[in-house]
Amino acid sequence: MGMRSQGRVAVVTGGTRGLGFAIAREFLAEGMSVVCASRGAGDFKLLDDEYPGRVRYRQTDVTSPDSVAALMRSAVDLFGGLDVVVANAGVNRDGKVERLAPEDWDAMVSTNLTGVYLCTHAAVPHLRERGGTIINVSSSMATRVTVGAAGYCATKAAVEMFTRVTAIELGRYGIRVNALAPGILSEGMGKELTHNDKVWEVYRKRFALGRAGEAAEAARAAVFLASDDASYVNGGVLEVNGGLQWA
Ligand SMILES: NC(=O)c1ccc[n+]([C@@H]2O[C@H](COP(=O)([O-])OP(=O)(O)OC[C@H]3O[C@@H](n4cnc5c(N)ncnc54)[C@H](OP(=O)(O)O)[C@@H]3O)[C@@H](O)[C@H]2O)c1
Repeated sequence: MGMRSQGRVAVVTGGTRGLGFAIAREFLAEGMSVVCASRGAGDFKLLDDEYPGRVRYRQTDVTSPDSVAALMRSAVDLFGGLDVVVANAGVNRDGKVERLAPEDWDAMVSTNLTGVYLCTHAAVPHLRERGGTIINVSSSMATRVTVGAAGYCATKAAVEMFTRVTAIELGRYGIRVNALAPGILSEGMGKELTHNDKVWEVYRKRFALGRAGEAAEAARAAVFLASDDASYVNGGVLEVNGGLQWA
């Protein structure tokens, strides 16, 4: 506690399950108000039960410019302003390049990359009002070669460069932009991998701490980046992976 984010307003895309849910929950525990945005309501009700009045669900498709613009306006309408945007919504479609279908490629590019751009683009006019901050969710796979994940790796690498460029462009408004790069979490899209004993045995050895991360552990790093404790952290990539040596 004591991160001094109380009363701030956040939008978390994909905030209805997995990592985004954990981020929304940690933000709420800090005393922030949160708009969770995704195509389906997921586990939103759990948050609403725990923090009634401080959390809202807004149906959103991050691949749609109109939908994302309406999302950012809704935060201002509901809670009186916008301070923090977490562009967390993402998808992963496996497949070596020869088998990777154009529609799977499109799903990753439009969600993981265009979705991140649209969030920044639509949020900046609101964030400028009070000098807010943006957190783009990347992955360890942005910087580690992973066979069968060319689309996912490429979109996450692009997210990190987008973060670096926009951090420089927006610094003059007092807007900080950082990326959060989790390793493998036992929830969300990491669940299947970590629950498959045979596969996980291979991956587990790569993590110095010998275990997958919990979504809440990555979410605490988002709390830090969103807070004034990170007031001089801008254009960075915060890796949260328990110490990772990729083969
Ligand atoms: N879990 C891990 O091990 C791990 C590791 C590194 C990085 N990450 C990153 O963490 C982020 C969250 O992933 P996760 O593991 O929590 O996966 P997840 O459980 O599959 O959650 C993804 C979230 O994104 C939302 N979403 C997907 N497409 C969307 C769209 N077009 N518009 C709006 N919302 C959309 C989903 O809701 P709907 O389907 O209802 O729209 C869901 O709430 C992703 O960017 C992922 O790449 C995860």
